[in-house]
Amino acid sequence: MKQQDRIVIITGAARGIGYGIAECFAAAGDRIVVADLDSQQARTAAQRLKDEASARDAVGIPCDVADRASVAAMIDGVTAQFGRLDVLVNNAGICPFRDVMEMEPDTWEKTIDVNLNGAFHCTQLAAEKMIEQGDGGRVVFITSLAENVTQPVQVDYGASKAGMRMTMVGFATALGKHGITCNAVAPGMILTDMTRHHWERPGPAEEIKRRVPVGRIGTPRDIGHAVLFLASREAEYISGITLRVDGGHQALCV
Ligand SMILES: NC(=O)c1ccc[n+]([C@@H]2O[C@H](COP(=O)([O-])OP(=O)(O)OC[C@H]3O[C@@H](n4cnc5c(N)ncnc54)[C@H](O)[C@@H]3O)[C@@H](O)[C@H]2O)c1
Repeated sequence: MKQQDRIVIITGAARGIGYGIAECFAAAGDRIVVADLDSQQARTAAQRLKDEASARDAVGIPCDVADRASVAAMIDGVTAQFGRLDVLVNNAGICPFRDVMEMEPDTWEKTIDVNLNGAFHCTQLAAEKMIEQGDGGRVVFITSLAENVTQPVQVDYGASKAGMRMTMVGFATALGKHGITCNAVAPGMILTDMTRHHWERPGPAEEIKRRVPVGRIGTPRDIGHAVLFLASREAEYISGITLRVDGGHQALCV
């Protein structure tokens, strides 16, 4: 496993946590593939990584992780352009915030398709390439505290994240013999477009101070630092675990 100048695919990296993860890999000297639904935003994010985060190289490739053919085309494009791939971060995700008793089945299916099925397609197809290369690899899944605890408006989301956790554990058992580790980072409350509408109001801002021992909301880079560690050479004996990055939120009983 190389220590830098690796080819790193991050799904959903056009903004939010994925972009923060990309900034951390860029600072470590790796080359970044921003694989996101919106091709224009993916290209813009890649350019920003080069201009503002000193990325050695970054490209934006359109990809819908819920569509296996789209994932296959993205991974083929990466190996055609860079000749290899070293790290996959399964970050793309959605959270529609609908009460489970009012939810249309289509909404349920979409959440499972993007969050859970998407992570399966990306991991299986990326791991095939890593196995062919023969020198290991790293896969990091971005799950959530919602893999363990949820609420009426996050039942689909919690189910998808709990499924991602077992998918990660299962791939860890299958891929270890190839030197490929699989782990998860479970973020707590992180300020992004997904959550901004909630956390930027005055009431919830006070709630964060009460519920998070370190006393602040998390940033995308807080997650990026943890992902970078799990993808490092030093982490080669860590596989099948979930690292919670939540400022102590889940440790606190309130
Ligand atoms: N923000 C939080 O508090 C929080 C907490 C726990 C876990 N997470 C997880 O972190 C990940 C990133 O969340 P975020 O807050 O940055 O969200 P975000 O909505 O800000 O960004 C998500 C990105 O994923 C992309 N995306 C959505 N569907 C896609 C698809 N089908 N194919 C490819 N790309 C797609 C979007 O275009 C966007 O760029 C998600 O998996 C989310 O569940 C977020």
